[in-house]
Amino acid sequence: MSAPDRYAVIGHPVSHSRSPFIHARFAAQTGQNLTYDTIDAAPADFDAVVRDFFAQGGRGLNVTIPHKEAAARFAAELTPRARRAGAVNTLALRNDGSVLGDNTDGAGLARDMVNNHGISIAGRRVLLLGAGGAARGVLAPLLGLKPSQLTIVNRTVERAQELVQAFSDMGHLSALAYSQLDNQPWDIVINATAASLSGELPALPPGIVSARSICYDLAYGRHETAFVRWAHERGVARAMDGLGMLVEQAAESFHLWRGVRPDTRSVLSELAAELRR
Ligand code: ATR
Repeated sequence: MSAPDRYAVIGHPVSHSRSPFIHARFAAQTGQNLTYDTIDAAPADFDAVVRDFFAQGGRGLNVTIPHKEAAARFAAELTPRARRAGAVNTLALRNDGSVLGDNTDGAGLARDMVNNHGISIAGRRVLLLGAGGAARGVLAPLLGLKPSQLTIVNRTVERAQELVQAFSDMGHLSALAYSQLDNQPWDIVINATAASLSGELPALPPGIVSARSICYDLAYGRHETAFVRWAHERGVARAMDGLGMLVEQAAESFHLWRGVRPDTRSVLSELAAELRR
């Protein structure tokens, strides 16, 4: 058998990444001959490390915090969704030796919501919390699912307004500050703030959700995130974290690299069991 093709996730830090677990399962399941490692690179070293990886025969990289914008600058060409996101989470070596940059985060979120959780977004009123890189990365695929309205709320309202300007050609978008949220419940509330990562919550009025609302946290962890707990305490219909999005964005990357689509459901349940053990 020929030598396996090399892939890796590059980040800083990166040792916590679940991507090697996920891609090893995908490869075994689809019979793809590949290895998948982690590469820890400080921001100043990113370009040199990535250039070296591809020069040594590497075939593709996942890119995580804090390198997603640097990866967008590195790529010779960007997919339209990566250009919109201004960030890249997947680099792929092409046959002509150039490197393509893609962003599969938003597609991962959309697939998890629609396929795994059966959530329909078309015609629904959606509130997106946060206006940073994570929010920007999921906006285009979310708008592609045709919500009747998508409102971005952010502590720094100017950042939300910038996103509205950048994406207003794609749907009904508006921006608010948390203090402007009234007590009208939203159909779907998506948390794309970095608050969850430190166990914090944005300043959310309780009336923004009802017993019919669905809440989705892009973050995930060993335990329930602060936002998912907040949602459950308010008796929403359903609340879920972003573990499924993690697996789905990985599957999108795997598909770009290998041309085959792995079965995500089995890997998601394995990963959930592993994480929560
Ligand atoms: P990321 O790439 O993870 O999105 P980022 O670009 O630094 O990181 O953006 C972080 C987002 O989380 C921002 O929307 C930030 O709000 P501000 O733009 O007002 O700073 C939001 N955020 C972080 N901590 C928060 C908190 N405790 N409450 C509300 N929003 C928070």
